[in-house]
Formats: sequence, structure tokens, C-alpha cells
Amino acid sequence: MKKPFLLAPSLLSADFSNLEASIRTIELKGGDFIHIDVMDGHFVPNLTIGPPVVKALRAKTTLPFDVHLMVTNPEALIDAFIDAGADWITFHAEAAVHAHRLVSVIHDAGKKAGISIVPSTPVSSILELLPFVDLVLIMTVNPGFGGQEMILSCLEKVRELKKIKHERDFSYIVSVDGGVNAKTLPLVIDAGTDLVVSGSAFFMGELDR
Ligand code: DX5
Ligand code: ZN
Repeated sequence: MKKPFLLAPSLLSADFSNLEASIRTIELKGGDFIHIDVMDGHFVPNLTIGPPVVKALRAKTTLPFDVHLMVTNPEALIDAFIDAGADWITFHAEAAVHAHRLVSVIHDAGKKAGISIVPSTPVSSILELLPFVDLVLIMTVNPGFGGQEMILSCLEKVRELKKIKHERDFSYIVSVDGGVNAKTLPLVIDAGTDLVVSGSAFFMGELDR
């Protein structure tokens, strides 16, 4: 049976010595997107994947790349990720000064634009952007690492965003990232999440479609 949500397995929990094999696993298990976590060691305390790796992986699959930029000054990296083959590019509201302009740059390149907020940032801080974005990514852990426990109160933001979307006829989808596993998935879906990101639980075989 087809589940009422899209699944974006995160490469953060993949085998970094064999990313192609992990991509095959995502394809086999019915992933709709490949979630690529980009960390710069400044915005979050970890370093992961950059544009050259994204470019190398682009040749290995036709699944869309959902690139999650956890970086300070995302403006400086957008072009490189667009050139590398990102399809959806999500940056953090906390990291961008001119977020509206950045959304336009992403759209002008023919890509989808997402905005993300960490657990301590309220939805009210991104209200002005909601008419323009394609995706809102709600972090349900403090970003930086996989395998953390979900902060359940963040799911209220999903409900809030779905309500605003319907009231104002906006078109964004809502994504949840962090601590999704077999136990929390029903709560994530019940809140109205459209796109579910999963790293550790997916690669441990807990979630597929
Ligand atoms: C966390 C990343 C997530 C991470 C989720 O900073 O943005 O995408 O991969 O991992 P799990 O599903 O293990 O919480
Ligand atoms: Zn992520």
C-alpha cells in the first residue's frame, strides 16, 4: 500500500565508503528523494558533503536531490550546489540575511527552494517567506548529527504550517527532519508532514515504503 507521505532517506547515515550502494538501497526501498546533509563545521559542529561529492553522485541516480544546507552564509554556496546537480535546495533561516533574495536565486536557476528552522526558531520568523518557498523543513532535533531523539514539541510547527498553508492557499510542502523512526513516524504523519527525512532509522531498516 502506498503511504500518504514522501520519503527522503538521508545519506548522513549511509556508508560513506560506498555511497553508490547506499543510493541503490534508497532506490530499492522506495525513497522519493535523496536527502543530502551539508554541514560546514560553523553553523553546526560537523563537516560532511560538498559540491564535488554531490556532482559525482548526480551521475548515479535519477532520484531528485534534496540538499539541506546547514551552513553559515548559504549565499556563497548556492551556485556550486546548483552546478553540482541539486534539485531542491533548503537553507536555514537562522543563517541567511537576505533569505528572500536567496529564494529568488534558487528559482532563477530552475530549482526548488526550501527554508528550514531549528527547534528554537518559531514559525513566525519565516512568515514573510512562506508565499515564496516550495518547502519548509522543520528540524525536530538540533542539527549536526544523525541518531538523535526527536523533540516532539516541534511537531506543533508542522500543524501550524499546514493551517497557514490552507488558510492562505500557499503551495509549500512541509518536511520533518530528525529523530524519525518507527515509533515517531505515526506522530509525524498525524501532524500533516508531507516529506519525511530519515537517516539512522532508514539505514537500520526500520522505515521504507
Ligand atoms: C541532522 C540532519 C538530518 C539527519 C537525520 O542534522 O539534518 O537529516 O540525517 O538523521 P536521523 O534520521 O538519524 O535523526
Ligand atoms: Zn537534514
